[in-house]
Amino acid sequence: MLDLEKYLIQGNNRLEGEVKITGAKNSVLPILAATVISGEKSIISNIPNLKDVKVMTEILKTIGSKVKVEEHRMIIDTNGVNSIDLPEELVREMRSSIILMGALLTRFGEVNVSFPGGCEIGPRPIDLHLKALKQMGAEIKESHGFIHCKTEKLKGADIQLDYPSVGATENIMLAAVKAKGVTVIRNAAREPEIMDLEDYLNKSGAKIKGAGTSIITIEGVERLNGTNHKIIPDRIVAGTIMAGAVMTKGKIIIKDIITEHLQSTIAKLKETGANVIINGNSMMVIGPKNINAIEILQTLPFPGFPTDMQAQFMAMLSIGNGTSIINETVFENRFKHAEELSRMGANIKTFGKVSVVKGVKKLTGAKVYAKDLRGGAALVLAGLVAEGDTEIENIYHINRGYENLDETLRRLGAKISCI
Ligand code: EPZ
Repeated sequence: MLDLEKYLIQGNNRLEGEVKITGAKNSVLPILAATVISGEKSIISNIPNLKDVKVMTEILKTIGSKVKVEEHRMIIDTNGVNSIDLPEELVREMRSSIILMGALLTRFGEVNVSFPGGCEIGPRPIDLHLKALKQMGAEIKESHGFIHCKTEKLKGADIQLDYPSVGATENIMLAAVKAKGVTVIRNAAREPEIMDLEDYLNKSGAKIKGAGTSIITIEGVERLNGTNHKIIPDRIVAGTIMAGAVMTKGKIIIKDIITEHLQSTIAKLKETGANVIINGNSMMVIGPKNINAIEILQTLPFPGFPTDMQAQFMAMLSIGNGTSIINETVFENRFKHAEELSRMGANIKTFGKVSVVKGVKKLTGAKVYAKDLRGGAALVLAGLVAEGDTEIENIYHINRGYENLDETLRRLGAKISCI
């Protein structure tokens, strides 16, 4: 995938048909990191074909793993992992590689990781990760842009997270699985991806309880073994397609989902007037004639409305009937798509972490720039309904989290090509 590729979208599309949801990016990344702990072979299936997964696979190989990549499946043998250094270029490329800290600390008692730069959506510090690892007995020094962590033996601790950080919760779980004693994480993140990580780790022999709630308890064990695991479906990819159905007055059957993971997104879509019919692990979404505005849309940690769906909803509400207020409470700077949507005729005013979206009748096609992963997806949705052609540059952002988004949308009737 060349980084210069762009999407060309002809407007006035209506999406109709069926789509099967791929495995969750934000579940496979921490689970790939977790395979380092056992030093054995794990088979992970339902893996999405994404740029971020390729980067994590490269990192695993760089530190000594043997990885056999098949179609949506990987066989990872981490017996040969022999490096405690996480190279700067890879950590800069993907901030979530910081999740390897806990795994390498557990495996070797030592890790050197380059300080993860901020990213498009904010500074994204790792203070909560480091504070917890210190509580578990890691000595942490920061110098020359690197973080050096060292410990004789990690020990269980009672950790109160100041914020239910997903990454910090995951890193602590990986540091705690073989620590001496019991670790309790209070105010833990409750995302479904945390539950998937607990499921993988317990199948590997860990003793973890409470993922999905605010209190997770991890009893340290002697060793972990390799295991097989199927990644849960990606609730954000599903939510993005659902928003597309609503915006294009379409009708889409979305298969292979876990509706429990989508409740807040479903509730908010229903507020716009969409019809959502759930049937086991699939659902049908029918777009309304007119999209109702949503008085207040606030992003919150799970089970609140997901920040990863905020941009897609902003695109949808920009053609809603009336004015919606969006409050992004999770990230510092996650409204970059607003200015691009405005170039397409949206009427959006942003004040810090609040955006006021005044619905307009029609968006018009334009040349716009993806600035981050979900903002890019929002621009694709806007292009589908705009009058005229839209050209989206920098779609490498989008390929980080969506497997062949253009192909998926073409199968649903969209006039979109990658040039
Ligand atoms: C995960 O990021 C996801 N990424 C993000 O998805 C998602 O938006 C986010 O969780 C929230 O749900 C992966 O799982 C790979 P956080 P993470 O730690 O772990 C602050 C996508 O589009 N914070 O819960 O980095 C932080 O700055 C991506 O798929 C601290 O201040 O999220 C942010 O404002 C984007 N100190 C807030 O907490 C810390 O030590 C939430 O961050 C850690 C975090």
